Amino acid sequence: MSGAGSAEAPWSGRVVLVTGSSSGIGAAVARRFGSLGASILVNSSRSVEAGRAVADSLPDALYIQADVADEAQCSMLVENALARWGRLDVLVNNAGTGPVIPHQNLSDATLDVWREVFAVNVFGVWALTVAAAPALAETKGSIVNVTSLAGVRQGGSSLPYATSKAATNHMTELVARVLGPDVRVNAIAPGLVDTPRTASWEGSFEQYAQVAPMHRAATADDVAEVVLFLAESPYLTGEILVLDGGFGLVR
Ligand SMILES: NC(=O)c1ccc[n+]([C@@H]2O[C@H](COP(=O)([O-])OP(=O)(O)OC[C@H]3O[C@@H](n4cnc5c(N)ncnc54)[C@H](OP(=O)(O)O)[C@@H]3O)[C@@H](O)[C@H]2O)c1
Repeated sequence: MSGAGSAEAPWSGRVVLVTGSSSGIGAAVARRFGSLGASILVNSSRSVEAGRAVADSLPDALYIQADVADEAQCSMLVENALARWGRLDVLVNNAGTGPVIPHQNLSDATLDVWREVFAVNVFGVWALTVAAAPALAETKGSIVNVTSLAGVRQGGSSLPYATSKAATNHMTELVARVLGPDVRVNAIAPGLVDTPRTASWEGSFEQYAQVAPMHRAATADDVAEVVLFLAESPYLTGEILVLDGGFGLVR
């Protein structure tokens, strides 16, 4: 990956597009790259004020409202980054969705739920990958997909959600095969992370505190640190990196 960069701001001159960055993990990722001097495209589909606030808190950022379930809006996100900065170095496919549905309640997981979840968690990742690939190839950049432990182990907030994350893990490996050596493609598969999405999941936090070898859930900053590592590591591609404090080892 090429970029101007300096010792104080090693990511200066490089551009990072983070979907779903008005909140939680995406906001932490935007702030982490921004703190290193990167220019950031901040995005969300509904929470415009929160997205603008994240962008305003960064040295060089642009907020764009777009729904990643819409193919044209995915292209528009990439076009906005290129129009503003003329390059793209990292795409972080972080936007994700999915209701909580106990897995045994099969009939609650209607086809409409499956379609909604896949539209964002799978098709959105695909549409952004296709739209961003040429620009990323020019900078020898990379893609980081935020998937889930639920896509690796048999658990998670719902069956459609877990299946969507498994699909995106597999997509990560397949796309890494065809985009190398110009673009590296990796995924981070977090276990429980303390974000607005999980604010009411007290039981899950208790379980992590008791059972996980690290005795706590991850913070959004824990995840951002590993996203940065995946984006920086020059030889790493096609990897699904589980970040769960060891929870998956013992449950
Ligand atoms: N928290 C966890 O325990 C955990 C664990 C494993 C994986 N993950 C994954 O991590 C990612 C971030 O989750 P989080 O916990 O940080 O959730 P969060 O705090 O609810 O943030 C989700 C972000 O995605 C945006 N978003 C949702 N749908 C979107 C769409 N269609 N288009 C564009 N942006 C959209 C949201 O903004 P709007 O609603 O305004 O669009 C928000 O900015 C997700 O992919 C999630 O599946 C989370």
